[in-house]
Amino acid sequence: MRMEGISGAQRRSTSSVALVTTAFDGVVNVMSAEWSLRVSLEPYLVAVFVGYQRATLDLLRRSGEFGLSYCSDEQAHLAHVAGNHSLREGPSKWSLARFPTFPSRYIHAPLIEGAVANLECRVVSEFPTGDHVAFVGEVLTAYSDEDRSPLVYHGGKYYRLGPRIPSPPRSHTSEPAQSSGTDLPGRAR
Ligand SMILES: Cc1cc2nc3c(=O)[nH]c(=O)nc-3n(C[C@H](O)[C@H](O)[C@H](O)COP(=O)(O)O)c2cc1C
Repeated sequence: MRMEGISGAQRRSTSSVALVTTAFDGVVNVMSAEWSLRVSLEPYLVAVFVGYQRATLDLLRRSGEFGLSYCSDEQAHLAHVAGNHSLREGPSKWSLARFPTFPSRYIHAPLIEGAVANLECRVVSEFPTGDHVAFVGEVLTAYSDEDRSPLVYHGGKYYRLGPRIPSPPRSHTSEPAQSSGTDLPGRAR
């Protein structure tokens, strides 16, 4: 049943969870972000939205770079720890869970092993969006693991991806074939 209300609508959104890694002057941090998305294919740009209170905000501004590791469905515990503890208050997130890492090629922050995809990003712009700040990053290089499935975040809870819904027959869409279909990954809009 449809109900009017902003908080209810906000709870119905669904996202992935990325682990944002940052490093500056010997300090290395990791935080969870459900608000991160591709914003350009060529050049490949992503945006991550970071609250003003996050320690990550300062590290992003100082370093001008960040890693994004999109959690697999085996990493809900890492998303939970990275998203419920801050560098500003002990104990260290790195001591609360074992975050397996591997070194980045172009940035100082490490990336998280076992993710579905990892991106190394250089900040190209920053702008305020209400109570968060958008950081747009140019993707310098990326890694992916086809054998892992993404973690799904919905209504404050973690889920696995459900069964695939078959693409509708072509006669059910008025779009041309090359721009329709849900099984064309990374298609240009
Ligand atoms: C699943 C999940 C997703 C989150 N997504 C975001 C987000 O997109 N942006 C944000 O600013 N905070 C988000 N948070 C909250 C931060 O991860 C949290 O405040 C964290 O403690 C910040 O760490 P830091 O202060 O060490 O940077 C999320 C938390 C969880 C659990």
